Amino acid sequence: MSSPILRGSLEVSNGVLHTSLNTGRRNKHETSQTIPFLLLAMVLYSISPKLIVLGVAISSFSTQALGSDFSWKQLAATNELKWKSCYNGFQCTRLNVPLDYSSSKAGNGTIAIARYPAKITSKSKYRGPILLNPGGPGVSGVDYVVSAGAAIATILGEEFDIVGFDPRGVSYSTPMVSFFKTDAERALWTPAATVMMYPSLNESADAVAQQTARAQIQGQLAAARNGNFKYITTDNTARDMLRITEAFGWEKLQYWGVSYGSVLGSTFAAMFPDKVGRVVVDGVIDMEAWYSANLTAEVMDTDKAVAAFVDGCVAAGPKNCAFYAPSSAEINAKLDTLYATVKSQPVPVITNTSYGLVGYTFLRNVIFAALYSPYDLFAPLAQNLAALADGNAEPLYRSMEVAPFECDCDKKLPFNNDNSYEAAVTIGCGDGTPETDSVEELQAFYARQAKLSSFADMWGNWRVVCSPLQGPFGATNVSHPLLVIGNTADHVTPIYGAKKTADAFSGSVLLTLDTVGHTSNGGPSSCVHNYLRQYFRNGTLPAPGTVCKPDGVLFPSNNSTANATVGRELDSRAELLNAGRTIGEALRRVAGRKTHTLL
Ligand SMILES: *[C@@H]1O[C@H](CO)[C@@H](O)[C@H](O)[C@H]1NC(C)=O
Ligand SMILES: *[C@@H]1O[C@H](CO)[C@@H](O)[C@H](O)[C@H]1NC(C)=O
Ligand SMILES: *[C@@H]1O[C@H](CO)[C@@H](O)[C@H](O)[C@H]1NC(C)=O
Ligand SMILES: *[C@@H]1O[C@H](CO)[C@@H](O)[C@H](O)[C@H]1NC(C)=O
Ligand SMILES: *[C@@H]1O[C@H](CO)[C@@H](O)[C@H](O)[C@H]1NC(C)=O
Ligand SMILES: *[C@@H]1O[C@H](CO)[C@@H](O)[C@H](O)[C@H]1NC(C)=O
Ligand SMILES: *[C@@H]1O[C@H](CO)[C@@H](O)[C@H](O)[C@H]1NC(C)=O
Ligand SMILES: *[C@@H]1O[C@H](CO)[C@@H](O)[C@H](O)[C@H]1NC(C)=O
Ligand SMILES: *[C@@H]1O[C@H](CO)[C@@H](O)[C@H](O)[C@H]1NC(C)=O
Repeated sequence: MSSPILRGSLEVSNGVLHTSLNTGRRNKHETSQTIPFLLLAMVLYSISPKLIVLGVAISSFSTQALGSDFSWKQLAATNELKWKSCYNGFQCTRLNVPLDYSSSKAGNGTIAIARYPAKITSKSKYRGPILLNPGGPGVSGVDYVVSAGAAIATILGEEFDIVGFDPRGVSYSTPMVSFFKTDAERALWTPAATVMMYPSLNESADAVAQQTARAQIQGQLAAARNGNFKYITTDNTARDMLRITEAFGWEKLQYWGVSYGSVLGSTFAAMFPDKVGRVVVDGVIDMEAWYSANLTAEVMDTDKAVAAFVDGCVAAGPKNCAFYAPSSAEINAKLDTLYATVKSQPVPVITNTSYGLVGYTFLRNVIFAALYSPYDLFAPLAQNLAALADGNAEPLYRSMEVAPFECDCDKKLPFNNDNSYEAAVTIGCGDGTPETDSVEELQAFYARQAKLSSFADMWGNWRVVCSPLQGPFGATNVSHPLLVIGNTADHVTPIYGAKKTADAFSGSVLLTLDTVGHTSNGGPSSCVHNYLRQYFRNGTLPAPGTVCKPDGVLFPSNNSTANATVGRELDSRAELLNAGRTIGEALRRVAGRKTHTLL
């Protein structure tokens, strides 16, 4: 992994990056040698799944239940959608797509697709497929739909096929990218603590240099082991989405993408404005920043999100927030003390499942990860911090505990269902311009970013070191306006990206969700759910300027009388809310899978 920011080698004029957008070829493909390191904010989803141990029930669904007679490996790839039952109640297929849309020479890739089938009484009621992307990049859309498809249908309507697909490069799609020959090799190079966590660049004086050096090894492994990675790009996945849509017999895309999925949705709408049926982008990354490989501004609201925890704790009071102090300044001081303590003296923890250290990087990651799903994670975080302050590090450790690696030595690639790490790097790097920043330049980048956010030590790690180009960023003639959703205190996709995107696609509307948390799933809101439903069913957009509130409570009352009142208020919205919560849980879970299934 490496670090911050990009080289300024791209050409932007009038907001347009000039490249060969529609040919499927990219300028620098033929020169790629080193896959530079990248990673994105959204990869952080791969941390959060572990936080399920903080008390969220997860037993109601399982991505592991494949169905006894189903295997991706044995499912032949076809040119049409030939469905086969899978995952108890789902249907799966593998679709041929050209790796290179401008030439058949490169051969085919295959896209793994799973759907939660529409429940309709007659054909005329059918409303077509809604494609999903859960972010990452590199998170499996198949796993996502299997975990959350029923809940999504509850929100959007049962007349749609709810469709998850693994973007090319990811999981069950081929070619699958891997820097490693086996899971064991991956585990040895990327032990849990570094795969799942951002090593804090403030952990030690040489952290940036260390991460930069590691990135160089990874880049060379990637280049040596992935002949086809140049086709694993977002614009090609947008083309694949059109293929999938057409294979359904549908002309225009219907789509809901969160986090990195917003880049995919915006890219599609810019490339194929006349194929936009319904496109929702939610937790929006500034597309221009993404393609120019400079994600600095993505942390501009991170401190706001931290403040939501601190201020929320003060407001919740000592009964509901275990890390309470009478003022925000005092809570911040308590946090600073904890940071300093574990930095100078990391705490060893041995549980009945694993062992490890609660040090500075660990603590930073636990707090950063909680910002994704504040309604589920703030209250338990407060309890775990309070225990740590009392000298008991185990609860905090357990909240992100990872099972020791166990070799599934018979497993052969491809069809590896846990390559989200490499897929994220590869997709983000797209055309693989070699990285040449010096350690000094990366240090300078980190220092610049640190002026914008106190969490630059986490974010600065994930540098998009390549400069895949696309453009234009937006379109004036989309065949249907986009619904763009942004949260007011999203720590990794600040609302400026949503505003910019809504402006870039004429007619599109920004729906503001007044909450901390990442994407609308980070702050479930029946208000947002109702707008989503209307948009997909009827094409209707909220009035410009519409602001929704979340339904949850950050620090739920530790008072059964108060709970009873809240419970009654929520009764009518309960179904939607439960669905929203299920989607949030699924998102936290699917990114990491195996490594996080413990506990
Ligand atoms: C590649 O996919 C195309 C359809 O996109 C199909 O016609 C062709 O047969 C496939 N080739 C192979 C080798 O599977
Ligand atoms: C939309 O505009 C782009 C360029 O501005 C053009 O290439 C495309 O044909 C237009 N599409 C429609 C449906 O008007
Ligand atoms: C990256 O973006 C930040 C903020 O958006 C900007 O201040 C900085 O100059 C950019 N860096 C480069 C190298 O373009
Ligand atoms: C809530 O109340 C219970 C019992 O009254 C107590 O054990 C628990 O610590 C309280 N939680 C918080 C966050 O104060
Ligand atoms: C690094 O950590 C120390 C405390 O351990 C803190 O005082 C300092 O502000 C941090 N620096 C950055 C850039 O985050
Ligand atoms: C480990 O201990 C926890 C409680 O401390 C318990 O709930 C869990 O079942 C135990 N796990 C194993 C694998 O023994
Ligand atoms: C659907 O949208 C039209 C206008 O586009 C509006 O008149 C109608 O009331 C909407 N129906 C529903 C069910 O929202
Ligand atoms: C109140 O509800 C929250 C969840 O909304 C729960 O965590 C908490 O334990 C409940 N408190 C009491 C005292 O029932
Ligand atoms: C519990 O909540 C009820 C209703 O909000 C409130 O009247 C009561 O004072 C609360 N009790 C405590 C001990 O906080």
